[in-house]
Amino acid sequence: MIAVLGATGTIGRELAPLLGEQDLRARAVVRSDVAADVPLTTTAGDLLDRDSLEQAFDGATDLFLLTPHGPEQDQMERNALAAAIAVGIQRIVKISGGGPSLGPNGATATAAAHWRSEQRIEASGLRFQFLRPSFLMQNLHGMPVKWGLMPAPMGRGPVAMVDARDVAESAAALLSRSDAPDGAWQLTGPSSVTFSDAARERGARYLSIPPRIARRALERRGASPFEVDHSIRMARYFASGADGSPSGDVAELTGHQPRALKDFFDDQSPVKGR
Ligand SMILES: NC(=O)c1ccc[n+]([C@@H]2O[C@H](COP(=O)([O-])OP(=O)(O)OC[C@H]3O[C@@H](n4cnc5c(N)ncnc54)[C@H](OP(=O)(O)O)[C@@H]3O)[C@@H](O)[C@H]2O)c1
Repeated sequence: MIAVLGATGTIGRELAPLLGEQDLRARAVVRSDVAADVPLTTTAGDLLDRDSLEQAFDGATDLFLLTPHGPEQDQMERNALAAAIAVGIQRIVKISGGGPSLGPNGATATAAAHWRSEQRIEASGLRFQFLRPSFLMQNLHGMPVKWGLMPAPMGRGPVAMVDARDVAESAAALLSRSDAPDGAWQLTGPSSVTFSDAARERGARYLSIPPRIARRALERRGASPFEVDHSIRMARYFASGADGSPSGDVAELTGHQPRALKDFFDDQSPVKGR
């Protein structure tokens, strides 16, 4: 039995039906049983409440660990690991941060928290598979286009953006193999692209704005200090080109080439889109 966290989110929404289709025994751990629209059986559990996780994980052998981005991530990751150990889970498949962003002084607080969590999981003696996605193409929906322009502080560096569907398929491939080796996989698209390419796919022009202007705009909109710091450090990281190298890991795990930016936007069309 696989306990699945995050089944209502961007990656988990794509993963849940795959697990169902493969007839893998899986149970979604959701905050609100009432609101959850998930094609798996559900059980209540909150990442901020370790006892609730122990109850939700009871009987599971594998954990798909996905924590939401936010200042409480460290606590959530600790709670999930402690509950997993307490109920005898044997393997954790974790959504981590992009490989080059990780480290004790990671590119952002989130990246550093992912790194610490990976270290704790490795030290726990549980089996582990860490999936390290690059920038999710789905994030582009949160970057507004106005008057033919897509303004953002992401610079002009290459980014090996990945479709969340390929992240979900990679996770499903690992979860379906009980003999998968421990390790880490860098999940990217097939090539590196730029934010100018992304804007062009949307029929717009990319307007690169300086991080200090973006910071002021976020502050004016009332973003929390955590969110402002995360957004600006993330923008600098992507602008540096550090996340620009495509890997073959999606193809290795799924048996097909990852979706390109064009595929992602083509699939959003009213005819094909969901
Ligand atoms: N976006 C990127 O480009 C990118 C790249 C690399 C790695 N990542 C990593 O991917 C992860 C986020 O994945 P995502 O984009 O799929 O997430 P998401 O769309 O933000 O969804 C978050 C999920 O977590 C659940 N959740 C929130 N608070 C919870 C709690 N207290 N207890 C239990 N579940 C809770 C949400 O459930 P509800 O329905 O209850 O809200 C939802 O299912 C982060 O760890 C991030 O660092 C993201």
